[in-house]
Amino acid sequence: MTASKIIIDTDSGADDALALLLLLGKAGMDILAVTTVAGNSTIENVTRNACAILDLAKRRDIPVHSGEAGPIARPLAKAVIHGEHGIAGIDMRATRYDLDTLAADKIVEIVRANPGEIRLLAIGPLSNIASAFQKDPQLPGLIRDIVIMGGAIDVCGNMSRMAEFNFFIDPEAADIVLRAPLKKTLIPLDPCMSNALPLDFFESLKGAPLHGPMTAMMAHFIDEMAQKRGAKGALVYDAIAAFYLIDPAAFTLVDMDIVVETRGEHTAGMSIAEKRPQEPQTPNVSVAMAVDPERFKKARAAALLRAGSG
Ligand code: RIB
Ligand code: CA
Repeated sequence: MTASKIIIDTDSGADDALALLLLLGKAGMDILAVTTVAGNSTIENVTRNACAILDLAKRRDIPVHSGEAGPIARPLAKAVIHGEHGIAGIDMRATRYDLDTLAADKIVEIVRANPGEIRLLAIGPLSNIASAFQKDPQLPGLIRDIVIMGGAIDVCGNMSRMAEFNFFIDPEAADIVLRAPLKKTLIPLDPCMSNALPLDFFESLKGAPLHGPMTAMMAHFIDEMAQKRGAKGALVYDAIAAFYLIDPAAFTLVDMDIVVETRGEHTAGMSIAEKRPQEPQTPNVSVAMAVDPERFKKARAAALLRAGSG
């Protein structure tokens, strides 16, 4: 099986970190770059967080490029879920990082150097991806596919009544990306809500090189999720999106015609699927409406036990 060449675009919160560790622990996942975008926290914090996770995993060979410090057409609203810095529980005092603001340029450069081969995993607001498409309108046609964590189809939002966080933060970017002509797979809130991970899952990964920091990070995340979202366990949205790259057959996919609301006072960022049976459909995205929990459980334990072994 040939390796998947991947660019991960992330707003490095705890579930982003888990997604990164999942892919780092899985053979055949060639992460060519990590690009960072403001969302869960400021561009500085999320860039530091991404570098800290790569430090832990002994993978600073993977370049990190910072990107948009905010949405492409509105001010940044910061998450309230991932603590002050986006990730808590990990000592980042020694983490070296810089803000080169090259994310969109590097996405263009790497895609053009590998036409038809790059898989984009977008697990934050889509500001960098939209910016790359605006810089190079031909780019979507050169990308193998994009897997996006975002949106909510048959469940309510997690950042407003109707909008999921990544689409809420930058609706205009989400609108640009969902209209772009490339193979798109969307992992909305729907399959994530029933796959919360309890802390004892992480505590059970004894022997994993990153057992200590991973458990500490997830303990903080689980507390925050309980306090602010009433969740029982860690809603690991981005790890589920990353899992799609590992085992797509574990997902139930439905082709949908989805638009993103960019104007509504109460609905900005809402992902709206055409559900009227009598209306013509123009499917623009394949949506993961369910994931096999056992396959996810098995794969994530195996990968997280390996992550950090260099
Ligand atoms: O709604 C969940 C998404 O918002 C995840 O990507 C999480 O990390 C936050 O960015
Ligand atoms: Ca994220």
